[in-house]
Amino acid sequence: MKILVSLLAVSALWAAGPRREFTPGEVWPDTDGNPIQAHGGGLLRHKGRWYWYGEDKALGNFNRTGVAVYSSKDLYNWKREAIALRKDDVPELFRDHGVCERPKVLYNRKTRKFVMWMHLDDRGYAEASAGVAVSDSPTGPFRFLHQIRPIHYDFGYPEKDRTNQRERGSTYRDMNLFLDDDGRAYAFYASEDNWTMYVVRLNAEFTGPEAPAVLGRTWARILVRQMREAPAPFKHKGRYYLITSGCTGWNPNRAGYAVAGNILGPWTDMGDPSAGPEAETTFRSQSTFVLPAPGAGKGAFIFMADRWMPKSLQDSRYVWLPFRVDAAGRIELKWRTRWDLNIFKSELK
Ligand code: GAL
Repeated sequence: MKILVSLLAVSALWAAGPRREFTPGEVWPDTDGNPIQAHGGGLLRHKGRWYWYGEDKALGNFNRTGVAVYSSKDLYNWKREAIALRKDDVPELFRDHGVCERPKVLYNRKTRKFVMWMHLDDRGYAEASAGVAVSDSPTGPFRFLHQIRPIHYDFGYPEKDRTNQRERGSTYRDMNLFLDDDGRAYAFYASEDNWTMYVVRLNAEFTGPEAPAVLGRTWARILVRQMREAPAPFKHKGRYYLITSGCTGWNPNRAGYAVAGNILGPWTDMGDPSAGPEAETTFRSQSTFVLPAPGAGKGAFIFMADRWMPKSLQDSRYVWLPFRVDAAGRIELKWRTRWDLNIFKSELK
């Protein structure tokens, strides 16, 4: 009965016709009426469409399904396309009760491949590695290439280290990718067992770090010893921005952002971007991506975050909020119950 009622509710939502607004924190059905399963996600724009990649948690926590991909022409209405990377296509340790989180995809114009990076882990989060997969099509199937820890660096290894960084390299967990205007790509990730963020330039194929890796030239330690995660980078007027969260697992916390003239730093802490009620928990959500808002002029962006439901992760929600970088280079995130892209022509002009 309960299932029937929720089925009716969801189909009623879709029967209302195409969606024309964002309703942060509400159930967001795809064009078939099923709740979108693309958590810890990221967007790619390709040939007039957006693709949304994320963790499919329909069967609960851990990697029971793989990475889902949806497509849209307007950002409101999303069609489920496929499982872009099936859980059986990653090494066994990361399937079922293993972890495959925060997938992000870039298109490489030289190789004409879509390249996916993700955070792979065992259920105890000690493997802490990157996974890389490639595909000829944005909807997959992605072919798994390798599991790596991109950087080996003696940051002063802890004596007891269940993640074996001395032997295996610095850990790789919450992550994002960023494609710069000059065609060079970077991975941002929580490293050193989440103590320090790394930003690492990728090789020409985007399938690994640029080699040889040279600290300060091809990669950098940023937000050093600050324990930040959930990195969401973007660029405006030649300056780089990075929104992050604190490290409290599935529970939300206060966001922060930093700005830099050079992607490898130095990065300047700008404080909490959120304002108003529930700013202290980022409106009960955690950053995952920032998208330049379409048709809204320079400096207009959409902040994308996950409102995790730790007891039933499949019911986790999405919190998308608009913002514009102001003349002083500052940003402000405000809660909105509903909004659409016209906001960039009115309130956020
Ligand atoms: C969070 C992280 C999520 C997930 C979770 C597991 O800190 O941002 O992506 O890994 O921990 O507890």
